[in-house]
Amino acid sequence: MTVSHNIVIVGAGHMGTAIFLGLKKSNLDISIIIVEPNTHLRSNIASTGINAHEKIPELAGSEILILAMPPQAFSAFSKTCNTVQNHSGLIISVMAGITLCELHKNLSATQVCRAMPNIPCAVAEGITVLCHTPNLTQKNRELAQHLFSGMGKFLLAEERLFDSATALVGGGPAYVAYFANSLREYAISSGFNEDSAHHIVVQLLRGTSALLIENAEPPLDLCKKVMTAKGTTEQAIHFFDDNQLNTIIVDGLKQASKRAKLLGEGS
Ligand SMILES: NC(=O)c1ccc[n+]([C@@H]2O[C@H](COP(=O)([O-])OP(=O)(O)OC[C@H]3O[C@@H](n4cnc5c(N)ncnc54)[C@H](OP(=O)(O)O)[C@@H]3O)[C@@H](O)[C@H]2O)c1
Repeated sequence: MTVSHNIVIVGAGHMGTAIFLGLKKSNLDISIIIVEPNTHLRSNIASTGINAHEKIPELAGSEILILAMPPQAFSAFSKTCNTVQNHSGLIISVMAGITLCELHKNLSATQVCRAMPNIPCAVAEGITVLCHTPNLTQKNRELAQHLFSGMGKFLLAEERLFDSATALVGGGPAYVAYFANSLREYAISSGFNEDSAHHIVVQLLRGTSALLIENAEPPLDLCKKVMTAKGTTEQAIHFFDDNQLNTIIVDGLKQASKRAKLLGEGS
């Protein structure tokens, strides 16, 4: 599919910047405009040669709008920003909690899609969950899928799964990095220098991902292969199990999902 579009990204925080970097690196035929109130972020972006505005410019009908501001800012944005009202181009929201119904209602727009990406989009290794209103045109469905497939993988899901997708997909890199930090702390506490600790942990993540991809097996099968009976790893995993680490992680994601729902309710 050949895409030649202007994309306006509203909000260039962590996720907006990851999308902007991912799109910039992709081979898609697009031009990008960033809208960002933060002067410092705006000048950083402008220094990379990208158009960065404080306020949203006049939109042409065909422009794709990506809303990447905090969900708490959406209500005020939709009330004060007349340029986006009735926008006929594709609108993609990556905001946690804000439903398709609210997007449609607040923006008086029909071509609306929700995406839950994550920051590895910046390096074309993201995973994005997508859903859209039933009246999104086939062309715009394909366009949204095309944009996110340029930044990694995507999958379609029903909107009822979006708070879970927010917890799992949006937040996922943080949990993996949190676990990586525990490994790093252990490495440093046992005498490895910071560079070695970083090198070991990064390669552990890469090697484990590569095996999971290559073997297409459930993660616990890989785990069991390392847990030689009466060996060292078994000791660590039994300790994790005895302390219900798995339950703690699953419960943590449930908390994140609950928070996504509350964000949508304006809390
Ligand atoms: N971070 C992630 O990994 C991730 C993953 C998936 C989805 N998301 C979603 O992405 C959105 C942004 O998250 P984030 O982590 O990138 O937040 P963030 O780092 O706080 O960035 C949000 C940016 O939006 C700007 N902003 C605020 N109001 C705005 C407005 N009216 N118009 C334009 N820009 C505005 C903020 O500027 P100021 O600082 O000046 O207020 C800030 O630079 C959220 O809705 C979140 O749910 C995030």
